[in-house]
Amino acid sequence: MTAHITANTITINQQMDAFDGHHSVWLFGYGSLIYKADFPYLERRPASISAWTRRFWQGSHDHRGTPEAPGRVVTLIEQAGAVCHGMAYLITPEVFAHLDHREKNGYLRLPITITFNDGSDKQGLVYIAMPDNAAYLGAASEQEIARHIARSAGPSGPNADYLNLLANALRELGQADAHIFEIEQHLALLAPSE
Ligand code: SIN
Repeated sequence: MTAHITANTITINQQMDAFDGHHSVWLFGYGSLIYKADFPYLERRPASISAWTRRFWQGSHDHRGTPEAPGRVVTLIEQAGAVCHGMAYLITPEVFAHLDHREKNGYLRLPITITFNDGSDKQGLVYIAMPDNAAYLGAASEQEIARHIARSAGPSGPNADYLNLLANALRELGQADAHIFEIEQHLALLAPSE
């Protein structure tokens, strides 16, 4: 597959103007943004988005792997009828400078409708790594993904920590995710370097 989008998406994201002039913006997190909120926020609420599903199909060159040996992290794949549960944060626009840097390895921030647990919704943003980004890895079985995660690590730590923290955060939210929980089960049976 041809990668059209550079490995570093900071410049593209800085040009996104969907919420210019707004004092606060809702951001939907579905991966590490659920369990690692290393940024200031005004409010945080469990939420979901429709027609997207979470998959460990994105490569990580800068957090859970290296350019030579990328790890695997989550992105969203379009799927009719799917609902992806996560955490929504109300943030001020200045926070995007930090987030664009954190999510620079292929993620674009795109407009999305965010639905809260009370059924109300708001327009907001979500970081998605599309299949045309340079770090994209694509589909693999849950067992292959677990093996890949078991042998990967990067500047943010072992890839296995990313998976386990995400699985625990989803359990805390009361949200089952078959793809994530199956990888977690395979991973638990593997030694760290397999
Ligand atoms: C997200 O969490 O919303 C994006 C992917 C990640 O940073 O893990």
